[in-house]
Amino acid sequence: MRGAQARHLSAATPPFEWGVATSAYQIEGGNDRGGRGPSIWDSWGPSPVNSYELWRADVQAMRELGVKNYRFSISWPRMFPMGAGAPNAEGVRFYSTFIDALLEAGITPWITLYHFDLPQALQDAYGGWASARIVPDYAAYAEAAFRQFGGRVKRWLTFNEPKNFCFLGYATAVMAPFLKDAGGADAWHCTLHVLQAHAEAVARFRRIVPGGKISMALDSMWALPRSSSAVDTEAAQRYLDFKLGIYADPLWFGAWPASVEQRIAALPPLPPALAARLNASQPDFFAINAYSSLYIYDQANATGGYGEGRVDFSESYHGGANNATLGALADSDWLYVHPDGMRRLLAYVSKRYSPAEVVVSENGVDDPGEAALGLPDALRDDFRTEFFRGYVQAAEDAVAQDAVPLRYYFVWSLLDNFEWQMRMTKRFGIVCVKTMPDVIACHLK
Ligand code: NOJ
Repeated sequence: MRGAQARHLSAATPPFEWGVATSAYQIEGGNDRGGRGPSIWDSWGPSPVNSYELWRADVQAMRELGVKNYRFSISWPRMFPMGAGAPNAEGVRFYSTFIDALLEAGITPWITLYHFDLPQALQDAYGGWASARIVPDYAAYAEAAFRQFGGRVKRWLTFNEPKNFCFLGYATAVMAPFLKDAGGADAWHCTLHVLQAHAEAVARFRRIVPGGKISMALDSMWALPRSSSAVDTEAAQRYLDFKLGIYADPLWFGAWPASVEQRIAALPPLPPALAARLNASQPDFFAINAYSSLYIYDQANATGGYGEGRVDFSESYHGGANNATLGALADSDWLYVHPDGMRRLLAYVSKRYSPAEVVVSENGVDDPGEAALGLPDALRDDFRTEFFRGYVQAAEDAVAQDAVPLRYYFVWSLLDNFEWQMRMTKRFGIVCVKTMPDVIACHLK
């Protein structure tokens, strides 16, 4: 069923280890298999990728690639079909068998606990991440996962890109649960609940998985000021505060970024007990999903496109500093190929937060011209190869010249998969998947 033919991934002994990444909802399929309960994404469309049955082929593809690390996520509704209560033995067994297979193949498992797929039951019961009631339910789920898998899995991520599911899910209705809230209050409360849930989970992790390492996978574009003026430079910093600092600052400094606090009336205060808790147990590494860059300029009273509220900056798509000057546009309309942006982002997080380790938890691309390629060209995969050539060089420069302690670099993605609101129309896989019905682009038939 699956074209497990690996495309090229340059592997000239870099100073970091390679990994590949996926997430449960994007690749598993099997939504009604093995006792899994519904998630908030199910009604948007199932993923036809079917790793639930074909996971052995995934492990084999990684063996062929020679990859030593695999970042995947656990489906909360597969572990706890109703979100809470008794765990689903079949779900636990599925991940347990899979982890054993990875270890046997010499691949280190990295588990993401939450990659967007909330149990529908918790959305229905109390509004999901908008409610503080999510915190104990998430902590119980995390604890069960630590107890079941922590003996074998030492690298964990509590959340993936929480800013995206909070704002796109609870303010702008772009992602599940597709809710709109012009004031953004629910999304800001979601932000606080994620931090509380993270802190609860980390406290349990320290007791249950001694010697394990845990963090949260954050994301940001690199922000370039549109001009060299002081106000645009400050605006670019404000962008980083709003997009990255809203999590990174509480996690590493125990405080909201001042620029956000000053502007967002709906921002809940960070409870001192939570700040103290976060301070006492910082992440063990800085995990960043890094893809692209954009230009930012100062604009009084501008509101954020993610529904954040008043941010006083705008993204520049026009004029002399058009984002297109950054580099080629990928198939996804937000992804400009701009390796230097990743290097600067890595240098920025390394300098600002001084983590012991930096991990690129995601980096990759979709080829805008793929649908038009014939088989040999599709297999040569020039666009993606060029992309990685540039980004790997940028990562190496970040290590050699900016002293970034980059230890792992995860390619998004091992497989073509379900790209959320874009469904199956975007192909980020370094392994092509044939079973994507509403796309004709895969030539490995
Ligand atoms: C971010 C997300 O973590 C992942 O789920 C998504 O598919 C990729 N980046 C590409 O957009």
